[in-house]
Amino acid sequence: MADEIKYHIRLSRDMVEGATYAILPGDPGRVEKTARHIDPEGAKFLAANREYTSWLANLDGKKVLVCSTGIGGPSTSIAIEELASIGFKNFYRIGTTGVIQPGIKLPSIIITTGSVRLDGASTHYAPIEYPAVADFELTSALVEAAKSIDVEYHVGITASSDTFYPGQERYDTFSGYVPRRFQNTLQEWQKLHVLNYEMESATLLTIASCFGLRAGMVASAIVSRIAGETPNDEELKRAEENLAKVIRKALQIRLAQE
Ligand code: URA
Repeated sequence: MADEIKYHIRLSRDMVEGATYAILPGDPGRVEKTARHIDPEGAKFLAANREYTSWLANLDGKKVLVCSTGIGGPSTSIAIEELASIGFKNFYRIGTTGVIQPGIKLPSIIITTGSVRLDGASTHYAPIEYPAVADFELTSALVEAAKSIDVEYHVGITASSDTFYPGQERYDTFSGYVPRRFQNTLQEWQKLHVLNYEMESATLLTIASCFGLRAGMVASAIVSRIAGETPNDEELKRAEENLAKVIRKALQIRLAQE
């Protein structure tokens, strides 16, 4: 039924007006800003429940949904399940990230080609041997978009962890202890040319492929684990603006190709 409202996201097929592209920030607080960047005049609020806030935007005559996922794989998996069941076929996650390779400046854009599956949610959909890979065309559009604006960008593999602290080998925690499983993993990912850490792409990319749907992943680097840096407010603002520009342009490229 087209008017059936999905339990968590509180959206129905009717409400999204034929949109097939969903933009997925983690943070509900970034949904409105992103939707208004895509469609300054006509973006409209649709629903808010728990971590899921949704706005609908118009871009070049087509509807696009922006829906937050919350942090991590479990809540992301719910968003994908329910969005897919009301007609979404294409998913772009936009997020923030910590880079682990020397020479990547803050704030730059990181485009993920595939993710190391350090999550749990994706293992409920496919065995660990199954790859978490981004859709080629969605990713190509992100690269073309990044090239078209004045921004440093990097394309490659992301380590996608269920936890911000032990899974990303952070020792500045309550216990100060990182379980053996994760000790020295930051260095190992560096040696294996992994670019960055974030927390949702393994789940998204795996589930999208399992469902025969398409997903891409782009993030703004706001932490360098090498330089021990975080950007100042001005740089953070620039990081957010760069991400908004890249995703808007990538969507335009994709929508024109459909
Ligand atoms: N998000 C992460 O998961 N890790 C970081 O270091 C920064 C953002």
